[in-house]
Amino acid sequence: MDGHPSRKTVLRAALAAGVATPAALMGVPALARTVTADGTTNGAAPPLTPSCDDGDDPTPPQMEGPYFKPNSPRRTSLLESNTPGVRLTVTGYVFGLACRPLSGVLLDFWQADVNGAYDNVGFRFRGHQFTGEGGAFTLTTIVPGLYPGRTRHLHVKLQAPGRPVLTTQLYFPGEPRNNTDALFDPRLLMTVRDAGGGREAAFDFVLDVPQTPGPGPTTPPPGGSTWAVGTAYRPGDRVTYGGAAYTCLQGHTAQPGWEPPRAPALWRAG
Ligand SMILES: [Fe+2]
Repeated sequence: MDGHPSRKTVLRAALAAGVATPAALMGVPALARTVTADGTTNGAAPPLTPSCDDGDDPTPPQMEGPYFKPNSPRRTSLLESNTPGVRLTVTGYVFGLACRPLSGVLLDFWQADVNGAYDNVGFRFRGHQFTGEGGAFTLTTIVPGLYPGRTRHLHVKLQAPGRPVLTTQLYFPGEPRNNTDALFDPRLLMTVRDAGGGREAAFDFVLDVPQTPGPGPTTPPPGGSTWAVGTAYRPGDRVTYGGAAYTCLQGHTAQPGWEPPRAPALWRAG
C-alpha cells in the first residue's frame, strides 16, 4: 500500500460521519479505529486489519468449530444480569465488493464465557442481529475466556440476503497465544482499546457480494430535490440546498446539522 490515505480510511471517516450520534458530532472521541502493528492503539494506520480498498479482499473464512448452534436469540447484547467478565463492545461495518455498506446482513455471534466454556445447553453468549441501513453493527458482550488450546477469539457467521454464509473468527491483539494457535490469522485481528473499565473493539467485514460501484459512471439527473431531514440518500444522489447543487458521497439518512455545506464527508458541491 502506498503512502496516501487508503480508500478505507476515507471511507471510514465518511461512514463514521454518516452514523455519528449528536454526541459524536460534539467532539466525543469516536471508537478507536487506528492501531499499531501489534494491535494497540496509538494513532497509526492499521496495517493488519482487513481493509476495503478495492473490494477484492473479502474477509477470510475460518472453521466453524464444534460449538455453533442454530436458532440463537436475536439480540445485540449477550450480557445477562450479573454476567462476570470484562465488558467488550465490538462495532464495525459490513461491506460488499465495491466497499459499499450492506444492510440487512445477518451476523450470528457465539463465544466462550469468562472461563473459556461454551454453553451447549442454552444460548448464553449466543445471539444474532442484522446490520442497519448504513451497514453498521454493534455487539455488547464480555471478553471471552481462553478455551483450551486456542487463543482468545469470537465466532461469527455472516450472511447477506440471498448470499452464501461466511463463517469466521475474530481475534484480539497482544494475546500470547496468537503466536501458537494454528488457526490465528492476523487479517482477522480486531482493533481493541481499553475504555471505561472495559474494551472497545472494531472490525469491518467485507463479504463476497457483488455491488455496483458507488458514485460511478451512472450520470445522476441534473438538479435533484431539495435536501430534507429524514431522507435516506444514496451515493450519487443529487440535491439542492440554499440554491446550490450537491452530490451525495456516502449513503446516510439526513439529520439536522448535516446540511450539505456542513458535511463535506457526505456531500460535494456540484
Ligand atoms: Fe471457539
